[in-house]
Amino acid sequence: MTLRFRTILAESRKSPASVEQGGLTMNITVGEDADRKISARRDMVLIAVIAIVAAVVCVKFNLSEALLKWTRPFERLQLDELPAVLLVVAISLIWFSSRRYFEANRQLRFRRAAEVQLAETLTENKRLAQQYVDMQENERKALARDLHDELGQYLIAIKLDAMSMRESMTADPGVHDVARAMIANIDRVYGMVTGLIRQLRPVGLDDLGVTAAIEHCVNDWRSRLPLVTIEMSLTGEFEALDETRGLVLYRLVQEALTNIARHAKATRVQIRIAAGPAADSGRCIEILIADNGAGADLSAPRPGLGLVGMRERVSALGGSITLASERGGGFQVKASVPMAGAPS
Ligand SMILES: Nc1ncnc2c1ncn2[C@@H]1O[C@H](COP(=O)(O)OP(=O)(O)O)[C@@H](O)[C@H]1O
Ligand SMILES: [Mg+2]
Repeated sequence: MTLRFRTILAESRKSPASVEQGGLTMNITVGEDADRKISARRDMVLIAVIAIVAAVVCVKFNLSEALLKWTRPFERLQLDELPAVLLVVAISLIWFSSRRYFEANRQLRFRRAAEVQLAETLTENKRLAQQYVDMQENERKALARDLHDELGQYLIAIKLDAMSMRESMTADPGVHDVARAMIANIDRVYGMVTGLIRQLRPVGLDDLGVTAAIEHCVNDWRSRLPLVTIEMSLTGEFEALDETRGLVLYRLVQEALTNIARHAKATRVQIRIAAGPAADSGRCIEILIADNGAGADLSAPRPGLGLVGMRERVSALGGSITLASERGGGFQVKASVPMAGAPS
């Protein structure tokens, strides 16, 4: 089955699409205006030359008199009135074409204004989406820190108190049972908090590196989705990747796997990440995440922000992302992110 491909983004941040687009539109506009003026002037000169040549020919051969002589035998057809009628037709044609010309000019001005407005809206849209991604990342960071530093510390303190209650010689057996139950509950809550922190801030990204963090994330999903076979290959040089790129790779995998769990009903998932020379396109990181699930109609409007977030993260690094899917034919996310050099 052939997948329908749709590029959702392929721009670089170095040249914000819509701003560049806007600039380009303006340049084309200026160029087109100059071309139109030159071509109108050329046509006028041509008409003037033809008129002068016609006048010279008419004068030289006394054309009106000749015409009068030729048409005299057909006086009943009133052919001698033809020049006057042709003059009226010519004036009418001038009036007709000038009206069309001004109409076309007005339409062109409207279209240009709409294009400029569209470019501005696109820029604004892009800025908002980027702001949303940045805000989400900062909030996740702050939340993970608070959960770890505040809630985590308090939970440990409560657990230590419960443990000393459990070990206390003076307390009666009922208190020991309550303490044991408290410890079990605290362990459960602690496990949940740790899971949340892991979702908010990738485990090991800072200390163990991006590959370990992604493997950890994928292993988490493997245990959460036991019926899905997740194949993963990470090839190439990841050591040199900066934190921003590492985080983008991690978030792409995380969001794609979340989507697979929520929407795909897939049985097989393939994740391929190749960095540096291992990637076909040299100094790029190539990412492919494909499943064999239910797929989606990409032409239909999508409500969520996950794919938008993916697009914005990749775009911020000067990369491109392509989605391919068909109902019943799986879903595929392909991205390419420059190794370095693009602004982050
Ligand atoms: N792997 C997938 N399989 C099928 N449909 C998907 C998949 N990933 C995304 N989609 C479709 O794309 C839509 C948008 O996804 P997303 O932007 O992540 O938002 P959300 O997950 O919050 O709905 C989803 O609602 C779903 O219809
Ligand atoms: Mg989603």
